[in-house]
Amino acid sequence: RPFDLEECLNLDDIEAAATKKISRKAWAYYYSAGDDLISKALNTSVYRKILLRPRVFVDCTNCDSSTSLLGHKINVPFFVSPAAMARLGHPDGEHGIAKACAQYGVAQLISNNASMTPEVITKDAKEDQVFGWQMYVQVERAKSEKYLERIHKLPNIKFIVLTLDAPVAGKREDDERMKNVGSQLAIRDVVTDSGGDADAGKKKKGKQGGTSVAEMLFAGTASDLTWKTTLPWLAKHTKLPIVLKGVQTHEDAYLASLYAPQIQAVILSNHGGRALDTAPPSIHTLLEIRKYCPDVFGRIDVWVDGGVRRGTDVVKALCLGAKAVGLGRPALFGLGAGGQEGVEKVFKILKEETKTCMRLLGVEKTSELGIKHVNTRAVEQD
Ligand code: FNR
Repeated sequence: RPFDLEECLNLDDIEAAATKKISRKAWAYYYSAGDDLISKALNTSVYRKILLRPRVFVDCTNCDSSTSLLGHKINVPFFVSPAAMARLGHPDGEHGIAKACAQYGVAQLISNNASMTPEVITKDAKEDQVFGWQMYVQVERAKSEKYLERIHKLPNIKFIVLTLDAPVAGKREDDERMKNVGSQLAIRDVVTDSGGDADAGKKKKGKQGGTSVAEMLFAGTASDLTWKTTLPWLAKHTKLPIVLKGVQTHEDAYLASLYAPQIQAVILSNHGGRALDTAPPSIHTLLEIRKYCPDVFGRIDVWVDGGVRRGTDVVKALCLGAKAVGLGRPALFGLGAGGQEGVEKVFKILKEETKTCMRLLGVEKTSELGIKHVNTRAVEQD
């Protein structure tokens, strides 16, 4: 596998290049997933079981990979999923990711636990650049309420992403093994900066000595969210559309759709396999929704993330009804491999792969992609 960004041909190459460059602590935090990493592995392998059904004799001279997120145009059907601690991998951090997004017309979801403030991350944003802000509701609700007030002052942030699949952190052993390894980045300061509960993090650290990155970040996060109490509370504190992240069953996708228009989209996600191990990959959930409650697609947008590493993966998710797909680790590893430039390389590769796939499939626009372009038999037998 190559070391230099220039030699990288695909997203796995970029992960390999980053692995050689970033600290062991950063690698462990980015790479890790719950328990035995079964969901993490499935997230990628499930895409390989879906076959494509290309049509021939179709003019595909022009190929338009653009789509929209809640009415906002994006040039490519992928976005950056929220991921904490980008500065652990490279000093360009989330601001570097934002600048790369500007170059490629990619939307970025900013993590509640980002290592830079949203004000800094969005400071050089283009007028039409699209961001979402991901929220972990804090035990002390007033902290989240205050944070929302800050978000409302940033015009590029168009929606709130409420993450639900990690009321507590999963058991991530790679991260835990690094708990006594220091980091140049003071995690506690990052948490303060990003609106998380630094005091809770500090108390935990005092009690237990070294903490994993996840343990520190999750201190102060509420685990008592419910459909009945959290959505009315949020309605009081924001008028921005809500996107629910971490939906993993057709039942919850259906429930979410009943809350439209407050909820305008769901992200089918198992948190990159970092929460409940053996939770389903988002492709399984997409197929469940198609089978049991296809009306959901008409009421809210369905986005997916987890394991997307190839343009063919992007296209397959779209064929099954996803409006767009999210990238977690690829953006972080791109950053680790070469800062902002590394993230741009990730976008360039994935955009070209997506367009090549669409052309070879005989499709000119993302809106034309449908179930007729895929054979999912092998996944349905799972
Ligand atoms: C995440 N993810 C995540 N999700 C979230 O809602 N808030 C967060 O702060 C984080 N932080 C985070 C850190 C790191 C290092 C990773 C790898 C992931 C989950 C993320 O948004 C996304 O769901 C997955 O990363 C998607 O899977 P892939 O693309 O990493 O395979």
